[in-house]
Amino acid sequence: MTSVGKPLLGGPWTLVDCDTGRAVTDASFHGKYTLLYFGFTHCPDICPNELVRIGDVLDKLDADGKSPEVVPLFVTVDPRRDTIEQMQAYKQDFHPRFKMLTGTRDQVADIAKAYRVYFSKADENEEDDDDYLVDHSIVMYLVGLNGEFLDFFTQSARVDDIAKKIKGHF
Ligand code: NI
Repeated sequence: MTSVGKPLLGGPWTLVDCDTGRAVTDASFHGKYTLLYFGFTHCPDICPNELVRIGDVLDKLDADGKSPEVVPLFVTVDPRRDTIEQMQAYKQDFHPRFKMLTGTRDQVADIAKAYRVYFSKADENEEDDDDYLVDHSIVMYLVGLNGEFLDFFTQSARVDDIAKKIKGHF
């Protein structure tokens, strides 16, 4: 289905899969629905909250026994501190299907640009270079079987409504 006025989001990207330490691309996930979220592991409360909500959405979808598997992808916007080890430790607190993706600064900037995700370092501590926050867009993106952008959900969307809307795309 094509619809007029659909935002042109997404496109090819390359990142590093923290499970394997190897490069992955958008094409690596073709054949699966993915739910893409951009954040950073030092985020004090918004990211943890959104990752819990993504887990709740997945549980809702899985509970009906008919929905295809949706793979949640967490893309860090803070690759400097979000090493493979950091990301793998962080994901233990969330839905077991989460795939953690990091990359070079350029790789992260490229995918963020493709999805029009804003991120910017904030609250830098002059005494400690590793102590900072990152302002970032808080959006979940539903991506289809061929890597095409299907829908997005903001922080104010309710879990039930997100699950219902995702089912409408299957
Ligand atoms: Ni965050």
